[in-house]
Amino acid sequence: MTAAFRLEVLGPSHAREAFACGVEALDGYFVRQASQDVRRRASTCFVAVDASSGKVAGYYTLAAGGVPLTDLPEALTKRLPRYPSVPVARVGRLAVDQAFHGQKLGGALLADAALRAMRSDVAVFALVVDAKDDAAEAFYLHHGFERFGVNGRQLIVSLRRFVQEGE
Ligand SMILES: CC(C)(COP(=O)(O)OP(=O)(O)OC[C@H]1O[C@@H](n2cnc3c(N)ncnc32)[C@H](O)[C@@H]1OP(=O)(O)O)[C@@H](O)C(=O)NCCC(=O)NCCS
Repeated sequence: MTAAFRLEVLGPSHAREAFACGVEALDGYFVRQASQDVRRRASTCFVAVDASSGKVAGYYTLAAGGVPLTDLPEALTKRLPRYPSVPVARVGRLAVDQAFHGQKLGGALLADAALRAMRSDVAVFALVVDAKDDAAEAFYLHHGFERFGVNGRQLIVSLRRFVQEGE
């Protein structure tokens, strides 16, 4: 995270109504649903706050998950035990307010998610996302994710690879 932004756990002090990333579903989720999902322990939500204005510049959600070993490319799994499911951290949603696009904040949010997953006491092998459209998929491919599985636009990157390449 750059000095221009503070990364915080979503809380009541964050003004969510003004958030506008350009995708209504992601804005609406942030305003109406994110806090409820946190309360129910369905996901955590982190926000990047613009240090100078105090505005919410971006957010992402994170939850534990599993993907079938057989869905993954062999290059990723050859050193893993043959358990049926591989433990992953799922970035459910990630968005940057339009006023802050192009400042490397999206990449910084992804890096923050990877670091938190890497530091977790619960073992996690990779970060996984379901990209909602071609542009989102291109963003994740640009950051080293690769496609896997047969359902939709699922993408994965091993944490080891992501954190090493980001260094
Ligand atoms: C996609 C999104 C998160 C990118 O955020 P951002 O802060 O503008 O992106 P960044 O400045 O961090 O970009 C970092 C890098 O990714 C690249 N990038 C950004 N968006 C990209 C896209 N859609 N496709 C390919 N590359 C992309 C940038 O060119 C930059 O490359 P560089 O590091 O080589 O210079 C933002 O545009 C957004 O919120 N969009 C709407 C919501 C959305 O689609 N969310 C994603 C999935 S749910």
